Amino acid sequence: MIYVFSGTGNSLHAAKVIAARTADFIIPIAEARDHAGKHPAFGPAAGETIGFVFPIHAWGMPRFVSDFIRDLKVDGKPAYVFAVSTCGAEEGDTPAKVEKLLRKKGLSLDGAFSVAMPDNYVIGMDTKEPALRDRVLADAEPRIAEIADRIARREKGARMPLRGDGAPFKSNFIHPLFSRFAIRTAPFRVTDACIECGLCARICPVHTIKLDPLPRWGKACTQCLGCINRCPVQAIEYGKGTPGRRRYVHPDLR
Ligand SMILES: Cc1cc2nc3c(=O)[nH]c(=O)nc-3n(C[C@H](O)[C@H](O)[C@H](O)COP(=O)(O)O)c2cc1C
Ligand code: SF4
Ligand code: SF4
Repeated sequence: MIYVFSGTGNSLHAAKVIAARTADFIIPIAEARDHAGKHPAFGPAAGETIGFVFPIHAWGMPRFVSDFIRDLKVDGKPAYVFAVSTCGAEEGDTPAKVEKLLRKKGLSLDGAFSVAMPDNYVIGMDTKEPALRDRVLADAEPRIAEIADRIARREKGARMPLRGDGAPFKSNFIHPLFSRFAIRTAPFRVTDACIECGLCARICPVHTIKLDPLPRWGKACTQCLGCINRCPVQAIEYGKGTPGRRRYVHPDLR
């Protein structure tokens, strides 16, 4: 079972490549959370592989992901447990954080991998221009294929990190501050370009966007940036920085 969280499709793409190689099922973490305890098909069966694929948010796991791993009920000993993060450049010490969560459940992290893909943090900076974006996407493919092979071989102790400089400081200090103070929905707004298609509300993993008939944001948010990047007419802005910036969506989702 491969649990995936993805705002703009990078992690979903990586999960699909891995699932195709290992013949595992993919379950979006948003759906698994919505059905937690109500439907056994969303939980892992005893003795199978369990994987988590997710984007890096401020050198750590989105809280949406860490809460899910913490709450996931696992019966018996899985055959193999892995985590794959997708990031713009650096994951910090995220594997150590995943390992800590799993240890509390009596599980070990058999494989931990990270792959650089185009950055989707449009509220902080412009996304890559198309030629560079496509080069980064192409460069990611062999690494994703190698990750999929190592997972398929159930290689114990496999590590392919992208730590970056100052990883402990970034993951232990900046990440918690970011999660606590930097995630706000108040700066979201919709422009006259909105065609009321409802996509932003449908894809929001925390169901915080309501159509009235234009989108309105509630307080909950995990800052996946799916809404602002995936709006088909670029009608969503955030604060003063996003007007005129390119949006990013993985080609699988375009
Ligand atoms: C809120 C937020 C914070 C991010 N922080 C980091 C970071 O610390 N390091 C990094 O390399 N990329 C960072 N990124 C970029 C994403 O990790 C990267 O684009 C990822 O592949 C997106 O995956 P997705 O399309 O599955 O959501 C951040 C993106 C967002 C939305
Ligand atoms: S995705 Fe864009 S166009 Fe569609 S409802 Fe949301 S803001 Fe409007
Ligand atoms: S409001 Fe937008 S950024 Fe926040 S969780 Fe929903 S889709 Fe993601």
